Amino acid sequence: MSDKMWAGRFSKELNQRVNDFNSSIRFDNRLFAEDIKGSIAHASMLSKQGIISESDAESIKEGLHEIEADIKSGELLFDPTAEDIHMFIEAELTKRIGYIGKRLHTARSRNDQVALDIRLYLLREINVVAEAIGDLILTLCDVAEKHTETIMPGYTHLQRAQPITMAHHLSAYSQMLLRDMDRLLDVKRRTAVSPIGNCALAGTTYPLDRVYEAELLDLSEITENSLDGVSDRDFVIEFTSVLSLIMMHLSRFSEEIILWCSYEFRFIELDDAYATGSSIMPQKKNPDITELIRGKTGRVYGDLMNLLTMMKGLPLAYNKDMQEDKEAVFDALDTVKLCLRAFTPMIKAMKINNENCRAAAAGGFINATDCADYLTKKGIAFRMAYKITGEIVNYCIKNGKTLESLTLKEYQRFDLEFDEDVFNYINLETCVRARNVPGGPAPERVAEQITGIRVKLAKLCIALKIQ
Ligand code: ARG
Repeated sequence: MSDKMWAGRFSKELNQRVNDFNSSIRFDNRLFAEDIKGSIAHASMLSKQGIISESDAESIKEGLHEIEADIKSGELLFDPTAEDIHMFIEAELTKRIGYIGKRLHTARSRNDQVALDIRLYLLREINVVAEAIGDLILTLCDVAEKHTETIMPGYTHLQRAQPITMAHHLSAYSQMLLRDMDRLLDVKRRTAVSPIGNCALAGTTYPLDRVYEAELLDLSEITENSLDGVSDRDFVIEFTSVLSLIMMHLSRFSEEIILWCSYEFRFIELDDAYATGSSIMPQKKNPDITELIRGKTGRVYGDLMNLLTMMKGLPLAYNKDMQEDKEAVFDALDTVKLCLRAFTPMIKAMKINNENCRAAAAGGFINATDCADYLTKKGIAFRMAYKITGEIVNYCIKNGKTLESLTLKEYQRFDLEFDEDVFNYINLETCVRARNVPGGPAPERVAEQITGIRVKLAKLCIALKIQ
């Protein structure tokens, strides 16, 4: 006799290979706590509505609590031949409490059950990711605060462009990460909706109290269309797209760390505990963590593509294709958590080489805009001032000089408006200090920015209910 839940309709055992192919327990077993939580709420709702007796509900809940404890302690192992985690737990319950266990699945289908479980699971994990991002933002604020005066070149086209500070550069990443946290908050809102009670696709004839069941699960809303409730995976895709953006940000940052710790830049040095050596070249100290993050970004994008493609042709409502959502979103989630856990302590431990940053800023005519602005403020039209400065830079390159090392006489050969005060004007510290507009790199503006980041972060944590 088949032990399948649906054996009544079938006269043959399921082919062994098909069973393996069909089974999702090897990856959906991580939903066990959510599945049990959902079932406990369901039993409570069924008994409140008089659909099952109070004492049956109590036995069911007790049995489920015991199953959860046994899974957690390692006493109960997942049966690899079970079809999925939902079937496994239900079968185990019936094994333990007998016939009463068979009442749990009243007015429920695995279709609404799995949709609920994945929502509950993601709600928990969204916060885990948000917390890890919050840690990174705090770390960046701490490091940035020490470097509001650390001059470095800002780049466009990876060509030295204008002087900025390390604090300003690092804070740009804090801003991206704050937006990622905000996006997580947004996804959370659309995930915290209960599909339970939608059953297979068309709801049920039982007098359910869906709102009560949702409240027991801390969900603020219920889905309003039973077909949509069981077949919506938008929130999974949305979450994975936020994960993709997080990886994109980490990957850009990683690329810069890789450049900065190269011998050509030497803006930073990674701590020995966060870099690796070469098996053959004794001088090497490789930024493996950041390279792996850059590499793993493609993998998370792949998960997102997988989900989008998996969903795009599915007729309403549930289709088995949707079982594929789990491996994709779990992989993206695990990857992001892994990356953040390696990246944050690496940032905390890295050393910033102020002198090398300053030296790189001094070498590339990054104060040329300021030189042109100097002439402009003396009354020369900016386009003209720009042209004169271009000629000066050209002269410097040909004669191996910098804007700082030219004499006043040399300056005056290009324009008589030049005076002794030009040297102070093009001094890098002055250039940075003078960029004193909101969002600019002047030290007090960046200090202000960092305070703003900390405030925004605190607000996001409260909204997400973390820390
Ligand atoms: N393991 C399935 C999944 O993850 C559960 C839902 C199964 N529903 C069904 N009608 N076969 O999608």
